[in-house]
Amino acid sequence: MSGIKDYRTDYSKHELNRKDLPENPIQLFDIWLHEAMDSIESDANAFTLSTVTANTFPSSRVLLLKEVSDKGFVFFTNYKSQKGQEMELNPKVALNFFWPSLEKQVRIQGVVEKVSKAESDAYFQSRPYKSRVGAWASEQSSSLESRAILEERYLQFSEKFPEYVPRPTHWGGYLVKPQKIEFWQGRNNRLHDRFSFHFVESKWIAVRLAP
Ligand SMILES: Cc1cc2nc3c(=O)[nH]c(=O)nc-3n(C[C@H](O)[C@H](O)[C@H](O)COP(=O)(O)O)c2cc1C
Repeated sequence: MSGIKDYRTDYSKHELNRKDLPENPIQLFDIWLHEAMDSIESDANAFTLSTVTANTFPSSRVLLLKEVSDKGFVFFTNYKSQKGQEMELNPKVALNFFWPSLEKQVRIQGVVEKVSKAESDAYFQSRPYKSRVGAWASEQSSSLESRAILEERYLQFSEKFPEYVPRPTHWGGYLVKPQKIEFWQGRNNRLHDRFSFHFVESKWIAVRLAP
């Protein structure tokens, strides 16, 4: 493929210094996420979730972050999907956020647990009607003979639930409890700033890493 070798960026917009680091890395994540949400047109909360398959292959896909707090990072999905099955077997996951226009990356490692049914219900009911019906229509990650079958299922569930759509029990949230969070800020000459926080004996320790 032509042109890729010479396609490059020199990062120069921001820097990250030790004096900028809070004790709790989730505070810094929140600042970076809001900077992204204020400056990026859409999907600033998108991240790549990596899980591990039963035969130990890594497996990744993009999801949307829906909550961040001192407890961790929350996203919603279908519990029977490929990722759902993988997290059932192995709750260790990795998250990756990349905001190209801010020249920032965040890497997170942690362990997932399902959020409470009440929390999943509350978020499900906050979604638009069509997304709620869609959650019933899609048996996420299972094979489909045709798009027509999916659209027919959507129609059936919209007739079954013309107003109130209950949450399918196989749809809900996961909380990622972080053990490691790394902040990467692009700098000139590939001399980027990297700080990795590890949760050790109930507190976060930050280490600067070579780029
Ligand atoms: C921008 C973007 C946001 C997405 N957000 C979600 C999400 O929040 N939840 C979800 O289940 N799938 C989401 N998806 C779809 C997933 O990437 C994926 O196709 C789906 O969850 C099935 O993954 P799995 O087969 O590995 O379980 C999103 C895709 C994109 C590109």
